[in-house]
Amino acid sequence: MAELQEVQITEEKPLLPGQTPEAAKEAELAAQILLDQGQTHSVETPYGSVTFTVYGTPKPKRPAILTYHDVGLNYKSCFQPLFQFGDMQEIIQNFVRVHVDAPGMEEGAPVFPLGYQYPSLDQLADMIPCVLQYLNFSTVIGVGVGAGAYILSRYALNHPDTVEGLVLINIDPNAKGWMDWAAHKLTGLTSSIPEMILGHLFSQEELSGNSELIQKYRNIITHAPNLDNIELYWNSYNNRRDLNFERGGDITLKCPVMLVVECNSKLDPTQTSFLKMADSGGQPQLTQPGKLTEAFKYFLQGMGYMASSCMTRLSRSRTASLTSAASIDGNRSRSRTLSQSSESGTLSSGPPGHTMEVSC
Ligand code: BEZ
Repeated sequence: MAELQEVQITEEKPLLPGQTPEAAKEAELAAQILLDQGQTHSVETPYGSVTFTVYGTPKPKRPAILTYHDVGLNYKSCFQPLFQFGDMQEIIQNFVRVHVDAPGMEEGAPVFPLGYQYPSLDQLADMIPCVLQYLNFSTVIGVGVGAGAYILSRYALNHPDTVEGLVLINIDPNAKGWMDWAAHKLTGLTSSIPEMILGHLFSQEELSGNSELIQKYRNIITHAPNLDNIELYWNSYNNRRDLNFERGGDITLKCPVMLVVECNSKLDPTQTSFLKMADSGGQPQLTQPGKLTEAFKYFLQGMGYMASSCMTRLSRSRTASLTSAASIDGNRSRSRTLSQSSESGTLSSGPPGHTMEVSC
């Protein structure tokens, strides 16, 4: 990890003349953010090379946060708005982050030669151990969106001991059925690949609203220099097989899960936290980073990784009676502790110790 640029500033520094301690702290934080540009690495795997970017420094006794992006995006276009969101800083400063780019999706990636066999989603999942081995990281909390959520789930099914928790945003755990294929083929007759991918990323309502965000992502995808690579990742996504989750069966996620929309019926409710996001469309990490950050905080707190003092004042008062406070490095429990609400939502409490349910 010698290449990492982040500087741990721990020593006492004298204040500059006229500088308040608050201003000094702010300057220190700004310097740290400036220095932490992320370090990009590539490793060879049995399925080709994979690129990932590391932010922060490893924290003893803490998992890394590992992200995997959706189709049509890369780690930056998928996760930057969430990870650079103001309130997110108090969370991520406690974790090293590893952002994986699917092959050919990294900035400046050359277009794969014609006939290149792009890895299946299962093979993309099988590349992750090479990343962790390279970094010498033993466990992760995965954060995945769409195809990325599928890949991280597959990884977690294959390597349960290395996954402490999963945030799955808009996962579809099922292979396409013949009806889906028929619809897909029909859409393909009239729509371009970028439009089909936009239709996967965003709701029809969002697309027809044509907000600045939609225009931005339409522009990114339509003019992507690596559009041919994107199409290969898209094809792998469409050819995914069933994850075959079965509640209480052998094929289930063993770790705590924060599930953002759908796919709840096949996961173990004692291990799963549900975040329902009304009207959030397909990319809540872009459109509602605040709500996602708040829920993520609770999720981590349930795992014993966030002090309750880090929770927002409002949420703290609402949940004080429901949570067992966990210190920052205190006892970690594998059971979920929270039922909570966001500021605009309603409190809906499942059995304490099991399900976190947030209605936004
Ligand atoms: C991070 O701090 O983890 C981060 C920064 C920029 C883009 C994505 C993630």
